[in-house]
Amino acid sequence: LKILFAASEAVPFAKTGGLADVAGALPKAIEKLGHEIILVLPRYYKIDKENLTKLETPLGVPMGSIGELWAAVYTTTLPQSGVQVYFIDHENYFGRAGFYEEDNRSYKDNGERFVFFSKAALQLCKMLHFTPDIIHANDWHTALLPILAKTRFVHDFAHAKTVFTIHNMQHQGVFHKGLMDLLEIGWEHFNAHEFESFNHLNMLKGGIMHADAVTTVSKRYAREIQTAEFGFGLDGHLWAHREKIFGILNGVDYDEWNPSKDTYIAQTFDRDQMKGKRACKRAIQKHFNLEQRDDVPLIGFVGRFAEQKGIGLISSAINGILDNDLQIVMLGTGEKWAEGFFSDVAHHRGNFGLHVGYSEALAHQIEAGCDMFLMPSLFEPCGLNQIYSLRYGTLPIVRATGGLDDTIVNFDEHHRHGNGFKFYDATSEALYYTVLWAMSIYYNDKEAFLDMQRRAMSEHFSWDDAAKDYEAVYRYILDPANNERP
Ligand code: ADP
Ligand code: GLC
Repeated sequence: LKILFAASEAVPFAKTGGLADVAGALPKAIEKLGHEIILVLPRYYKIDKENLTKLETPLGVPMGSIGELWAAVYTTTLPQSGVQVYFIDHENYFGRAGFYEEDNRSYKDNGERFVFFSKAALQLCKMLHFTPDIIHANDWHTALLPILAKTRFVHDFAHAKTVFTIHNMQHQGVFHKGLMDLLEIGWEHFNAHEFESFNHLNMLKGGIMHADAVTTVSKRYAREIQTAEFGFGLDGHLWAHREKIFGILNGVDYDEWNPSKDTYIAQTFDRDQMKGKRACKRAIQKHFNLEQRDDVPLIGFVGRFAEQKGIGLISSAINGILDNDLQIVMLGTGEKWAEGFFSDVAHHRGNFGLHVGYSEALAHQIEAGCDMFLMPSLFEPCGLNQIYSLRYGTLPIVRATGGLDDTIVNFDEHHRHGNGFKFYDATSEALYYTVLWAMSIYYNDKEAFLDMQRRAMSEHFSWDDAAKDYEAVYRYILDPANNERP
């Protein structure tokens, strides 16, 4: 099949979260199945043009009432693959310091920027004479691709089917309805079943309506978003479209996240040779100025400081937790109140370390050096860090929601199985007691803890399997009569 894969970020070029991990890995796995897939990304300012090749012909992009705008196109291949990556370059929209925001403030023209990007992706296919069978969009930024392919570009993409993957329901791309004039799909699509919500243009809503298949990044989240608690106002809309919703769990790039060959960590280790993990623990304790002891449980957190990640629960519970003989380290940025709050905690507590910022190296070192990993999310479409943690023998302590619930099996003291510790209520008490439970297993049942680490490290969440599931969805929507519903 020929596939256009469009996203707003992808590793190794631009990353703010898990979407980039997915967009940098899934196309490779799909290509391995024998398909021709191209990846289209914006050329943000921080993506160095020096390492890219510029296409000779510029791309004309019709922008409705603004008129035609021009984009330069750069290209390269995705590392360790033959996947061709194209970057849409337009100084006015993407020549800025951030991807979507600066100083925690979204760019005011984000709607316009991603209308432009989505149209450019389709214009690019025309220019390359690349006729996709499947157009695969991700999150609100590219949610307009299905409708654009079916209306404005219908002659060029008459045979294409569209897949829309939702990585997060919270961010829906809601903008002033005037954006409809730039979209040029016709105002008849501005209604409560398609793009309108509360008199605004809602890109995610329209994407759900117009895609031939909607996927989310875990099975549990696929069900959850059809309920009021997780649907962010679109649960009814999703429920109405439930027949075309599929849940496919993300995989892990084990070239990148693998303690036996990780170049960021103090010493490599593996399931049968755990010694190196102790050196990694020491390195983390040293880095954060904590007491250097082997016997104390060390718990890590890596993630955006956003409500989604349960930072509210952590902030309420942390002082009580730190009264016990354990250590906690956190890496993240985001909400200013959280950065300030945790800085205060770090100032007053000897067994707590904090790094405010974004650091690939430190993220790997925390995964490697900690005994447990904390992820008490209020909702979590898939979540990647808990899966990375498993590979590093760093047992996840998670709230049972979305992908966390699908990947973590609660420790069972009687049957002695499981790969982590789970709690259900989104309360600081539930978090507190679960951390204490995990700590007591660490101290009092070392054998069970080690067994669990070994089990966790043997698990494999493969992109190859996920790619096969996406392929099944592609085939199904292209020819439902001859393919079973996955
Ligand atoms: P989300 O996409 O909701 O942020 P995921 O768990 O899917 O959550 O993915 C987050 C990704 O971003 C992981 O690869 C994680 O290691 C990385 N990450 C998040 N915050 C930081 C940070 N401060 N420094 C380094 N990596 C980070
Ligand atoms: C989103 C979700 C996260 C998921 C990631 C990749 O950012 O918040 O749970 O793992 O996308 O799909």
